[in-house]
Amino acid sequence: MAKIECPNCGAEIETAGIVTVCPECNADLRDVMEKLARERKTSRGDLVRDDSVTTHEFIVRTRDLAKIYTMGEVEVPALRGVDLDVRRGEYLSIMGPSGSGKTTLFNMIGGLDKPSDGSCYIEEVDMAQLDAFELAWLRCRKIGYIFQTFNLIPVMTALENVTLPMIFAGMGTDEMMDRGRELLDMVGLGDRLHHKPFELSGGQQQRVAVARSLANSPAIVLADEPTGNLDLQTGKEIIDLLKELNREGGVTIISATHDLKMIDVSDRIVHIRDGEVERIEERADLELEIGTLGSEHVPEH
Ligand SMILES: Nc1ncnc2c1ncn2[C@@H]1O[C@H](COP(=O)(O)OP(=O)(O)OP(=O)(O)O)[C@@H](O)[C@H]1O
Ligand SMILES: [Mg+2]
Repeated sequence: MAKIECPNCGAEIETAGIVTVCPECNADLRDVMEKLARERKTSRGDLVRDDSVTTHEFIVRTRDLAKIYTMGEVEVPALRGVDLDVRRGEYLSIMGPSGSGKTTLFNMIGGLDKPSDGSCYIEEVDMAQLDAFELAWLRCRKIGYIFQTFNLIPVMTALENVTLPMIFAGMGTDEMMDRGRELLDMVGLGDRLHHKPFELSGGQQQRVAVARSLANSPAIVLADEPTGNLDLQTGKEIIDLLKELNREGGVTIISATHDLKMIDVSDRIVHIRDGEVERIEERADLELEIGTLGSEHVPEH
C-alpha cells in the first residue's frame, strides 16, 4: 500500500493525508505533504482529479471486498466479499452488531487499509492503482473522516485542528483561518476557536471533528459511529448537521452506527453481519413500514 516516509525517524506512514504528524515520533509531516503536493503538479496523469468522473452515478463501489486479519496462526475473516454501490449524494447508514466488520469496511473505503481480496473504487478509480501521493491526495481532498474517538490533536486548538488538513491542500494562511472559523461557526463553536480538546466537552470535540472532516470540502464523509460517545441531544445535533451537509451540500455520507435516530435521516440502511451484507433497506420501504404502523411520520421526499 502507498506509504509516506517520515523524514525524522523513517517510519512508514499509511495514513498520510489525514494524519499530518508522525505516529511514531510526532514529527510534523506538513513539509513532506507540501513537497508531495508540489511534485504532484509535475507528476503523471491526473488520475484522481479527472472531472469527467464526477458524473458517475456511484461515488463508491466495492466488489467482492474481503479482509482477513492474520493474528499469529489464526486468521480472522472480517469481510467476506462485500459488494456495495453507494450513490452520489446518498446518506447511507451501515448497521451491524459489534465485530460485524463496519470499521474494517470503512478502512477499506477510506484507503486506510488494503483489502485481502476484491476491489474498492472511488469515483470509478480503483484505489489499488493509486501511488502514495495519489492516495494521500484522495484521502485529503475527496474524503472527510469522522472517527469514533475524535482523533483531535491534543496540543492544538480547535481552529488549528480544523485547519490542519488544509495545509496539505495548499491553502494560504488567511484563507485557512477564514475557512476554519467559518466551519467552526457552522458547528456552533464560533466562540471556542482557541480551546484545546481537553477544554471542550465530548460533544464539542466531536463537532470539531465534524468541522475538520469538512476542511477540504470532501465529496464523501465517512463517519464511524459519530454519535457513539455522545448523549442523546448532542448525538441528534451531530446527525442533523450531517443531514444538512448531505441535503444542502450534496455530500455523500456513509455512517456506521448503532443509533436508531440515524434511520430517520438515511436514504438506505445496509445491514452487515459476519463480514457480509445481510440486507439493504431503502428509505421508501421504511416509510411504508412506518406508514402501516399508523405513524404520522411525513416523508420528506
Ligand atoms: N487489526 C485487527 N487484527 C485482527 N482482527 C481484527 C482487527 N481489526 C478488527 N478485527 C476483527 O475483525 C472483525 C471486525 O471488526 P470491526 O472493527 O470491523 O467490527 P465493527 O463492526 O466495527 O464492530 P464495532 O461495532 O464493535 O465497532 C472483528 O471480529 C474484530 O475482532
Ligand atoms: Mg467499529
